[in-house]
This record gives sequence, structure tokens and C-alpha cells, in this order.
Amino acid sequence: MRVGYYQFEPVFGEVFTNLERVAAELEIIDCDLVVLPELAMTGYQFLSPEETWNLAEPIPEGPTTTRCLELAKARSMIMVVGLAERAGTRCYNSAVVVGPSGLIGVYRKVHLFAEETLFFTSGDTGFPVWNIGEATIGVLICFDWIYPEAARTLALKGADLLCHPANLVLPYCPDAMVTRCLENRVFSITANRVGSEARGGKPRLSFIGQSEIVSPSGTILHRAPSGQSELYFVDIDVKEARQKRITPYNDLFRDRRPSCYFV
Ligand code: ACM
Repeated sequence: MRVGYYQFEPVFGEVFTNLERVAAELEIIDCDLVVLPELAMTGYQFLSPEETWNLAEPIPEGPTTTRCLELAKARSMIMVVGLAERAGTRCYNSAVVVGPSGLIGVYRKVHLFAEETLFFTSGDTGFPVWNIGEATIGVLICFDWIYPEAARTLALKGADLLCHPANLVLPYCPDAMVTRCLENRVFSITANRVGSEARGGKPRLSFIGQSEIVSPSGTILHRAPSGQSELYFVDIDVKEARQKRITPYNDLFRDRRPSCYFV
């Protein structure tokens, strides 16, 4: 299975410009699955709930889902794309999973980071998984990485591959995802963005890039640079994620002891 990410710098608020940039970049690729960053078409640093509302989109009618559905169909691929979702009176920091035959699912970010809590409602979808044929996938969005429970839930539900749209500003996640993969024996694709935003006199946020693809043994198959766009793919054997036996005596999931854990 050929999987990867597109790391780039969106222009804040320019949804159509960003969509066309992504479309131009993905037009020539040949892959099974591509992950784009969190809030990939809006940018990140919102100034008010009104601004967030105005840039957020209904799913599937909004421009981001509509255009990505076209792209997924044209290239016969699955796309996982972070976007600001408008649903009823609420906004969610969401990701859509789209494929050649339509919308596969939506995940709404559970663990909001910093000022996101002012502009978005925390997600109510739980952590769904989707069988996309060759693999079962689940989604984490950015700061979800810091809760091992999130990745564990997806792995226990059968995810082989964690798709992780991100807008990382802290330095810890790329190394932490190695542990998330190792402790669950799953693949992950973190798609981060680059560049910075300092809107409306707010402190500048610098996004760290370093998108990466990690294997179930914790091997970093590829890590992107910090400061430039990159479209990158690797071939993976999804079956590696289904081998949870770590020694002849230890099976990662069978040997869990939930009765000993504080939940
Ligand atoms: C983040 O969750 N965007 C850091």
C-alpha cells in the first residue's frame, strides 16, 4: 500500500487558493492514501468565533470536502483532510476521510489545544475506524497525540494505520509518535504544516513541519524537513500492524490488564 502526506503552508483564510494549490500538487500522484494537515485550507490562528464560523464548512457540501471528493475520485485514492467544520450552531476541528466512491467518514478532534478551545467544540464522534479495503484506518488530530488513550482506542478497534493531520507548534510530537506506534504496533502518518502565523497582534505561531511516517516497530520511515513543503510517499505492508505478538510469551493486546489500570 502506497501512503504518504503533503506538508505545505496554507494561506490563512484563502480556502480556494489553498484547495487549488493542493489540487495542482496531487494531480500527478499515484498513491492509495494521502494525509493533509489539520485545518489545511483555512489556516490555524483564528481571531474570533465569528471568523471561525465564517470559514468553517458543512460536510459534505462545503468547498473542501467537495473538491477533495473530486480529487479522490480522479486519482483513485483515499484522502484524510483536516478542516473547520460547521454543524448546526457549532464549529468542530474535524477531518474528513474521502475516497473514490464518496465520503467515508468524519472525525471531530477530541482534545482541543490552547485557543482552539475558544473557537471549536470538542469532538463528539469518539474515535471511529474505517475499513478502506487494504487497511483499517483511524484519525487523530494534532494534540490528540499527547493522550495515549486516543491511539490505543484506535488500535484496539482494529486500526492498522493512524492518520494524523497536525498543526504542530511544540517540538515533542514527532518523537512521541514513535512510541505511539511501538506501543500499539501500528503505522502512523503525521501530516504537519510549515510556516508561521501572527494574526491580529497575537504571538507568532511557528509550525514545526517534520511530518513523518512511522512503522509498527517504531522505525521512522521518513521525516520531513522543518521549513519546506514536501509531498512524500512510502510503500508499507499493512500486515505488519496485525502482528501484535512481541515475544513468544507476550502478545501486546492479549496481555493487557485493564483491571489494574485507573481509568
Ligand atoms: C495542535 O493541536 N494544533 C497543537
